[in-house]
Amino acid sequence: MSTNTSDNLRKVTTRRLIEMKERGEKIAMLTSYDYSMARLVDQAGIDVILVGDSASNVMAGNITTLPITLDQMIYHAKSVVKGTQRALVVCDMPFGSYQGNSKEALASAIRIMKESHAEAVKIEGGAEIRESIERILCAGIPVMGHLGLTPQSINKFGTYAVRARSEQEAEKLVADAHLLEEIGCFALVLEKIPAELATRVASELTIPVIGIGAGGGVDGQVLVAHDMLGINNGFSPKFLRRYADLSSIINNALGRYIDDVKTGDFPNASEQY
Ligand code: KIV
Repeated sequence: MSTNTSDNLRKVTTRRLIEMKERGEKIAMLTSYDYSMARLVDQAGIDVILVGDSASNVMAGNITTLPITLDQMIYHAKSVVKGTQRALVVCDMPFGSYQGNSKEALASAIRIMKESHAEAVKIEGGAEIRESIERILCAGIPVMGHLGLTPQSINKFGTYAVRARSEQEAEKLVADAHLLEEIGCFALVLEKIPAELATRVASELTIPVIGIGAGGGVDGQVLVAHDMLGINNGFSPKFLRRYADLSSIINNALGRYIDDVKTGDFPNASEQY
């Protein structure tokens, strides 16, 4: 559990995240896709749990985030909500669930909220999906924006390299960030963009800006829990700090279990009825 104990007990809301930004208090966000991980993450005092569409890679083994379906996201979000007491639970809207038209986008967001009980949705994109975001917001559903590297558009960009290095792309990103704030998004994720640009966006917006590979000048950070815990050790981008090497720990435990079973050491007299 983190050190600030009274805040560890209060439920995190979208309003509270904005107050945190006003106070200069950094926001800690991590992904979870299941009940057990969500319990651990929530009990540790994380402010926001993201049911990311990275579940497509991490849980289902897909190469991109594109294949995951709305039904699958709802399944993951429902499990996470059951394991969470304090953190705000935000669920990603998967590829294909909001780009078609705003009516479909609203229907998808309503399904997420109604069936999973998540408290907000996250959507990738700016001006081009304005109508969808506005319609979702009109229904009283909080929306977190996502700009910079938007993995659902990997086939358009053809690379996961740092985004918005050119002046033109940087200016579009700044304009999109302002647009998302103006239409009512409660927070914004900036993924893999130059730190200087992310710092500028965070200082110009009043809503919290949460970075992943966007440097330290933003209002909070998000990482994929499986990456920072070293469960998924095949992914090592520059921005990732590993806080544990769980793959080695798990590997070691599994090896000892196999040995104990093979040698007949497990179960022993005290481990049977
Ligand atoms: O799906 C995800 O995990 C995300 C984070 C990387 C921000 O969108």
